[in-house]
Amino acid sequence: MTPGSPIRKPIVIAVANQKGGVGKTTTAVSLSAGLAIAGVRTALVDLDGQGSASATFRWTDPPDGPRSSATLFARELPLAQAAVATHVADLWLVPADEQLVGLDAKLASAFGRERILSRCIAASRDPELEAVVIDTAPYLGLITLNALIAADYVVVPVSCEYLPMLGLRLLHRTLDDVRRRWGARAEVLGYLLTMYDRREAITTEVEGILRRTFGELVFAQPARVDTRHKASPSHKQTIFEFESESGRGRSDYAALVEEVLRRLRLRGHHLGAPPPPSFG
Ligand SMILES: Nc1ncnc2c1ncn2[C@@H]1O[C@H](COP(=O)(O)OP(=O)(O)O)[C@@H](O)[C@H]1O
Ligand SMILES: [Mg+2]
Repeated sequence: MTPGSPIRKPIVIAVANQKGGVGKTTTAVSLSAGLAIAGVRTALVDLDGQGSASATFRWTDPPDGPRSSATLFARELPLAQAAVATHVADLWLVPADEQLVGLDAKLASAFGRERILSRCIAASRDPELEAVVIDTAPYLGLITLNALIAADYVVVPVSCEYLPMLGLRLLHRTLDDVRRRWGARAEVLGYLLTMYDRREAITTEVEGILRRTFGELVFAQPARVDTRHKASPSHKQTIFEFESESGRGRSDYAALVEEVLRRLRLRGHHLGAPPPPSFG
């Protein structure tokens, strides 16, 4: 970045679906790590009090004490001040701890309580930060609302284990509300089919419904069932470190990262080898 060039706001992507166990955390971790590996300087904000996204990463707490997303909200810090550098180059993390649980109630009387996270991101003024990925909790409380209001884009993981339309209608109502009342962009960047197993009838049923309803907005490559997604966090490794390049989980999320880069027009960034030169 050249000196004096305007400070651009990072692109904010929330990973959301109020249903639990659909692959939000796995997607937020893999997407943020993949973007960082592709050279996009990214911060992952863990907004689930269970802290499962944070669990994958190794970092060192700064001398003045640990960082957390609860402190980010409670003190309305600039994002960069609440983030730690992770073991993945170009990836920062705002970790979650149990303080986040119950924060909704404490913030109930805070000024402009729905936009706290938007202000933290706007105040960050870190010209180097290009993307923010937010992992959200499985309910639409005030913290999740903050994430959706701050979001330019929303990535929606949809599990192929049960019929999703009822839950998606609720999410869409919330997104409409967030746009109308709060002027947020909160545009669905794409739906990601997760827990995908083509041998299961429910998988083809869910895929059919989603592709008919949302067309191109459904990412072409689903995240197939891969037990390595369950194992990698306990090894403190993202899927890009834990699995070989040809591994199912890794290649599915590599495809997601490439497609997100394409949809966001972040040209020049690629996960793997540079694309072949085009002729004509
Ligand atoms: N594609 C997948 N194949 C197999 N297991 C997965 C896959 N994606 C996620 N999981 C596992 O399923 C569980 C729920 O996923 P998670 O990402 O935590 O969902 P959420 O954040 O929506 O609750 C976790 O144990 C995770 O490791
Ligand atoms: Mg989760």
